[in-house]
Amino acid sequence: MAVSPTHRLQDQVVIVTGAGSGIGRAGALAFAHAGAHVLAVGRRADALRQTAAGHSGIAVLPADITGEGAPQAVVDAAVERWGRLDVLVNNAGATTVMPLADADAQRIGDLFALNVTAPSLLARAALPYLRAGRGAIVNISSTFGHRPLPGAAHYAASKAALEQLTRSWALELAPGGIRVNALAPGPTESEALAAAGLPDAVVEQIKQEETARIPLRRRGTHEEVATWIVHLADPAATWITGQILTVDGGLELT
Ligand SMILES: NC(=O)c1ccc[n+]([C@@H]2O[C@H](COP(=O)([O-])OP(=O)(O)OC[C@H]3O[C@@H](n4cnc5c(N)ncnc54)[C@H](OP(=O)(O)O)[C@@H]3O)[C@@H](O)[C@H]2O)c1
Repeated sequence: MAVSPTHRLQDQVVIVTGAGSGIGRAGALAFAHAGAHVLAVGRRADALRQTAAGHSGIAVLPADITGEGAPQAVVDAAVERWGRLDVLVNNAGATTVMPLADADAQRIGDLFALNVTAPSLLARAALPYLRAGRGAIVNISSTFGHRPLPGAAHYAASKAALEQLTRSWALELAPGGIRVNALAPGPTESEALAAAGLPDAVVEQIKQEETARIPLRRRGTHEEVATWIVHLADPAATWITGQILTVDGGLELT
């Protein structure tokens, strides 16, 4: 008899960073609907509470994951609450529009602290628990983790780093039964562009240009991305590790 993903994720413990909006919120809800206990992490407590209002299986932890000691505190919070940790979803991330002529050490450092260092330290803190339960890590990259992005090269570079961490950790952790995969979404509706500080008119222009380039002629929804985060984390995906799954309406082919 086929077993549905719902049964396999029942009572598993999942951390989702950046769960107060966009892809992270949809991911937290998707895991909770599949029966998992979810710790939703992000800086804005009110945004996290809105996520948690969508399902009783979601608990919140307001935290800046780039803060000193924060990655360990996030993992400790999940383990103290539920006694185990099965899945780490490194979703929190940011975009920085920064042509080379404007390259700035502080901005580069901040971007890599969030997109590369924090996921690394979260994964390190999660390691003993993932080993104990033969768990999984899902890193959220971007189609620009393996495509050039003029004008935002450091964002692309930070996601390329995350993809290489994914492949390297997959090999490093395979002997312990831990699977490590990444999802590379194409342009998806979210607050990311606005969060990058771009004016509304510019955000709208970027969205229209992206839509025109996507073969399926629309940007993705959070749910269309979240469903694949859950699939990669699903214990049934037992023989998939080190993969970067692109979910982008066909953009990769253009
Ligand atoms: N939307 C797209 O088109 C797209 C495409 C490819 C890849 N992605 C990737 O998908 C992921 C999710 O992005 P999204 O589109 O859903 O954008 P989003 O709505 O801006 O989500 C990013 C989340 O990260 C959280 N966050 C930011 N800095 C943080 C910090 N220091 N500590 C803890 N949480 C932090 C934010 O919450 P707080 O501000 O409350 O902390 C926010 O909820 C990102 O890694 C992004 O690069 C997005």
